Amino acid sequence: PTVGIVGCPFSGGQGRTGVDLAPNKLISAGLVDQLSSLGWEVHYNSQEKFIDIPYNPIPASSPSAPENGTEINERSGKKVQRLPDEDIGKMKKPRLVSAVNREVSKEVEEIAKKGWLPLTLGGDHSLAMGTVSGTKAKYPDACLIWVDAHADINTPDTTDSGNLHGCPVSFLLGLEGTDVAPFNEWLKPCLEPEEIVYIGLRDVDGPEKEILKKHGIKAFSMHHVDKYGIGKVVEMALDHVNPDRSKPIHLSYDVDALDPMVAPSTGTPVRGGLTFREGHYITEALAETGCLVSVDIMEVNPSLLDPSSVEKTVAAGCSLARASLGETLL
Ligand code: ARG
Ligand code: MN
Ligand code: MN
Ligand code: MN
Repeated sequence: PTVGIVGCPFSGGQGRTGVDLAPNKLISAGLVDQLSSLGWEVHYNSQEKFIDIPYNPIPASSPSAPENGTEINERSGKKVQRLPDEDIGKMKKPRLVSAVNREVSKEVEEIAKKGWLPLTLGGDHSLAMGTVSGTKAKYPDACLIWVDAHADINTPDTTDSGNLHGCPVSFLLGLEGTDVAPFNEWLKPCLEPEEIVYIGLRDVDGPEKEILKKHGIKAFSMHHVDKYGIGKVVEMALDHVNPDRSKPIHLSYDVDALDPMVAPSTGTPVRGGLTFREGHYITEALAETGCLVSVDIMEVNPSLLDPSSVEKTVAAGCSLARASLGETLL
């Protein structure tokens, strides 16, 4: 089997820098060799081209924003034109997030259409707009398993923070308020409410709870993990979206689903999360179904906290990727 790693050094869906360093960190930690050892042919493509997407990462209103016009990008060494990316309604960096996700979607679709498994390394979770739409282009009947402390289902109207990493699911579902430029120029609703299931939720905004209820979206919170145990929760989650275990599965894994003691270096940590084993059990059980066709590992931020926290979080990102691709304990 072949895996196509899509490294996405992108932080524009939220407010903290550093999450864009994760793909390089995960690769430096040895992920390519680790997956090769599991029997995968590994192709790795860091999407450095995102850095040349011509929107200014700093709001034009900020005094530290560089002037618009041509400048040399420090990372790519290429000349880029920086265009302003003012808020649209409450959405922050909408043009940048949209343009990057459009590229990610194409890349994931291309990899999936070769028959390879796209493994996307975030970057922030807004990238799931691209990864899930790309997967759906190849596998229209794919279901989505979203492992996260957060539901990421705010709409441009309900978002409090304006951070688009809190909104990707609403765009994928095409909820009211998401048919807005520039996203509607390329991102078409591609997911039905019954095709997604959540595991690990514990920090869901009021309007998000309303949305989950209104659309009958299945969610297993940490309360359910405590009540039933992770084995039963994964079984119930699969019974909901994939009763015959016959549909392709896209796994979108936000490392903040793990407890902050396990994965501390992430932008929006929430206490009371999955243990190391619960977190890995999910990936092992999904790998066992043989249905996984696309995997995201999101929101590792190597610039947060001390070196030992970073090392733990990066190691967890790598081991979740390995377990998703079939690594077993025995
Ligand atoms: N619900 C909050 C918001 O809309 C937090 C979202 C956190 N999302 C994430 N991918 N870590 O801003
Ligand atoms: Mn999260
Ligand atoms: Mn519908
Ligand atoms: Mn998330």
